[in-house]
Amino acid sequence: MKLKVMLSIQHIIGYLFLVGLLPAHAAVHQHRFVIKEAPHSKLCSSKNILTVNGQFPGPVLYANTGDTLVVNVQNDGSQNITIHWHGVKQPRYPWSDGPEFVTQCPIRPGTNFSQEISLSDEEGTLWWHAHSDWSRATVHGALVIRPANKTNYPFPTPAAEVPLILGEWWKSDVQAIVNEFVASGGDANNSDAFLINGQPGDLYPCSRNDTFKLTVEKGKTYMLRMVNAVMNNIMFFSIANHQLTIVGTDGAYVKPFKTNYIAISPGQTMDVLLEANQNLDNYYMAARAYNSLNGIAFDNTTTTAIIQYRGNYTPSALILPNLPNFNDTNASFNFTRTFKSLANKQHPVDVPLNITTNLLFTFSMNTLPCQNESCGGPNGDRFAASVNNISFVLPRIDILGAYYKNVKGVYRDEFPSFPPFDFNFTGDSLPVELQHPDQRTQVHVLEYGTNVEIVLQGTSLLGGIDHPIHLHGYSFYVVGSGLGNFDRDKDPLNYNLVDPPLQNTIAIVRNGWATIRFKADNPGVWFMHCHFDRHVNWGMEMAFIVKDGTGSQQKLLPPPPDMPKGDSASARIHDFMWMNPPEFYGSKSDEDPRLVLEEVRKITQVMHVSEEHSVKLAAYGLKNLVYDWVVAWRKGRGEGDVPTTWQEF
Ligand code: C2O
Ligand code: CU
Repeated sequence: MKLKVMLSIQHIIGYLFLVGLLPAHAAVHQHRFVIKEAPHSKLCSSKNILTVNGQFPGPVLYANTGDTLVVNVQNDGSQNITIHWHGVKQPRYPWSDGPEFVTQCPIRPGTNFSQEISLSDEEGTLWWHAHSDWSRATVHGALVIRPANKTNYPFPTPAAEVPLILGEWWKSDVQAIVNEFVASGGDANNSDAFLINGQPGDLYPCSRNDTFKLTVEKGKTYMLRMVNAVMNNIMFFSIANHQLTIVGTDGAYVKPFKTNYIAISPGQTMDVLLEANQNLDNYYMAARAYNSLNGIAFDNTTTTAIIQYRGNYTPSALILPNLPNFNDTNASFNFTRTFKSLANKQHPVDVPLNITTNLLFTFSMNTLPCQNESCGGPNGDRFAASVNNISFVLPRIDILGAYYKNVKGVYRDEFPSFPPFDFNFTGDSLPVELQHPDQRTQVHVLEYGTNVEIVLQGTSLLGGIDHPIHLHGYSFYVVGSGLGNFDRDKDPLNYNLVDPPLQNTIAIVRNGWATIRFKADNPGVWFMHCHFDRHVNWGMEMAFIVKDGTGSQQKLLPPPPDMPKGDSASARIHDFMWMNPPEFYGSKSDEDPRLVLEEVRKITQVMHVSEEHSVKLAAYGLKNLVYDWVVAWRKGRGEGDVPTTWQEF
């Protein structure tokens, strides 16, 4: 048994060398992630949650800049899953990136997928999390990337490094919450607690004994490696009596700055120095939500952990730190705007200056009509969300596989560069045409090497809200941001092109904008989405295809031999598409699949198919295949009335 495992690891490493993924001296770290359910109790009640190796939060992975991780993910749970390495650029190798049906089919229960994660210039704290449904609520952990030569930080080496993971907890089953709000068309239930390293803290029932405690020695400096793994909230965080020094975010260093509080969005990571320079005592650290929507219920609880100084003393009564008010938009926005890159000799910036591709994406909350106005959203409609008025529909097989094998009909490459028309994005009354978005699977194609600028513009549709936008496969420079509408004439004059921060997640302030820049030099399919999970469910996402360049080091690497095939319905569609030329199923998979069915019917009826193809169609159970497709497609939209027999179509 052991021998078998060893052999397969060697096989994988051999494969990595083969495809040129491993630089000569980088270390390879092997890990085994067993996805399984495990009982965990919080807030005086217990439930089974999905975990990695039974742990929550999951294991912390350690590496040095430029290393490679090989993580063998074994799904011993009862639902499909994928794992994403948030902030890792994965040069030329999107196959391990993880977003379900974007770069891979899910890992089915009882199967495994060995993911190779090659680090390049990332240095600092990143994290990993599930990227299918809401599994990431409990399937997540920190990824710590130290400098290549161990202690070469651009600041004095801290006495210790402590991962600090903010989480969100529901007493009920998370999947049940998703099923319910997707079915009702309304909003998701609020959580019952926030967590620091898996514990709610002293202000919640049944937590006091397990509250996370960090022991420090007076005079020393500690590095907090912060991850916001919360599902749906930007968080404020601070420590009583202590200032914090921010030295990095999203796996890149920043010019150190001192602050009394932090605002951190879901997906974002931060490296924070804490000087233990106060009287010997115990001090609370605390985090709670920033919520810009007045009058709408949210989880307004506060999670705490404790800093305890080593020594002989009688601790005084713990006091909470000052946190900004829940609705303090300026506190969140101003903090987000403080970041600057180091931009020095050792850590230079490379901001694209000659922009060749200008994009403007609007991020909107929307609604979709609902039969009899019986849904749980505004006016009995169903909640939706969109980018450039397109609400993204996940296909049933992965976009990357379809792109690589040149399978037509899975997506369209017409994702628009601009919203359908110009409007006052953040005005009081918005065009009704924009209330209902189009539902499509569309990607935006970028030529290799183009210098891309995207203005991420929030809109006031349904009142507007902040959106933490995350891009896979790249870090981008945040060159500007502001409240209200982006002004193409004036705002670029204030861009920071000298030392803008390099990030992978940027919170667009409510009814405001942010401009990002990156060079499209990482070929592949890369997802971009809001990191609020309910907004993802509602369609606030899109994908880029970055084409290959001409150089030999500018091309997508081949997929690994064990790419997952997904569930049976998608596997059959997959097989069907790969076995049949595109004209047999049309190019309409982002529309009602019944149209596809009609097309197939027509083709078979007028006998445009050869004998051989008819046999193939039959062999692959086309009828059942399309039927499954229609059922899944309608379920995904919460539509009832799924036809029960073939004849009912
Ligand atoms: Cu943190 Cu698409 O993910
Ligand atoms: Cu959002």
